Amino acid sequence: MVGYSKLFREEVIAQTAYNAGIAADRFREAYGVDCLAKLDSNENPYGPSPAAIKAAESVSSNLASYPDAATSALRLAISEKLGVKAEQVVTGNGSEDLIALIFTAVLSPGEHVVTTCPSFGPHETGAEVCGATAEKILYPADWLFPIDDVEKALSAKPKVLMFASPNNPAGTAITEADFDRIVQALTPETLFVFDEAYVDFIEPSLRFDAIEKLSKTDLPWISLRTFSKAYGLAGSRIGFAVCSHDDISGALMKIRSPFAVNAVAVAAAAAALEDVGHLAMCVENIRLERERLQDELTKRGYTVAPSQTNFVFFDCKENGNELAERLRRRGVLTKGWFEEPYLGWLRVSIGRPEHTDAFLAALDSVA
Ligand SMILES: Cc1ncc(COP(=O)(O)O)c(C=O)c1O
Repeated sequence: MVGYSKLFREEVIAQTAYNAGIAADRFREAYGVDCLAKLDSNENPYGPSPAAIKAAESVSSNLASYPDAATSALRLAISEKLGVKAEQVVTGNGSEDLIALIFTAVLSPGEHVVTTCPSFGPHETGAEVCGATAEKILYPADWLFPIDDVEKALSAKPKVLMFASPNNPAGTAITEADFDRIVQALTPETLFVFDEAYVDFIEPSLRFDAIEKLSKTDLPWISLRTFSKAYGLAGSRIGFAVCSHDDISGALMKIRSPFAVNAVAVAAAAAALEDVGHLAMCVENIRLERERLQDELTKRGYTVAPSQTNFVFFDCKENGNELAERLRRRGVLTKGWFEEPYLGWLRVSIGRPEHTDAFLAALDSVA
């Protein structure tokens, strides 16, 4: 067999595939047991708003036509909700798509990106695929945001600062005071991409409006959001970016794949956005269950990172990937982490109470 890897850029060959986990419908075939709890991908166990399902179904009768490439109606609805202009909003096939789009649009080989560690993989790999270097700033053991180190890194004027708050996999959120320090330390040479995938899960007392704060500056920034988490639409693949300036959103609009966002996803997202009651129900149930899971793990002697998300990350005192494999054999999916120094940690999404019960029973039997 002829090998064609030489056709690809070195940066592509050097990558390892994203650890995407296993789809529920493939689980039985792979493990020979039923899936009792799918807690590996931070999905919403309550699913999307019934109105979103209805909207998706009604669009399904007209799949022959291309969707509106500009996704104008949805961008307008998002802009009204967030108090920004529709021109500032760019939609994507999930926010992952937008992370890759932003890096592709901005980075040249040899440029520098700053992110945190641990972090959502594409924040690092997306930069590396473009030939940039990713500097990963480690969280301290107390899980406070590493603000001094990030400030120092910003003084070297990296091309991009990208991190998530709340963080994936730790679940911890930056404080308003530390966020203000970042805004103070930023300069126009650095594009700040603030990944807010889990923003809806933050306790109201700890929440602040990052878009409002950033809008008071003339700095270049992007807030990344997704419909995959609190809105329960991971399967429909839709996320969006709110950009500080029209030339930033304009550049992304020019090179995004024109029909990246499909008509079913747009209809579902627009309806989900309106159903504030469903969103509140999901967030509240997940918050309660998160507290229970954190308490149960602490009771068992594990160290748990303080989560503001729909998952928890804990020091499982052994290789997390090996523990995850034993849990899978008991029908429970979780995610071990492949990033040093967190190989001994496990991430567990918050499910319904019965999913937490299944996870704890499996953990007690295999740990
Ligand atoms: C921090 C963070 N950002 C972005 C994403 C991507 O979400 P999606 O592509 O489903 O919108 C995820 C998914 O897990 C995430 O954890």
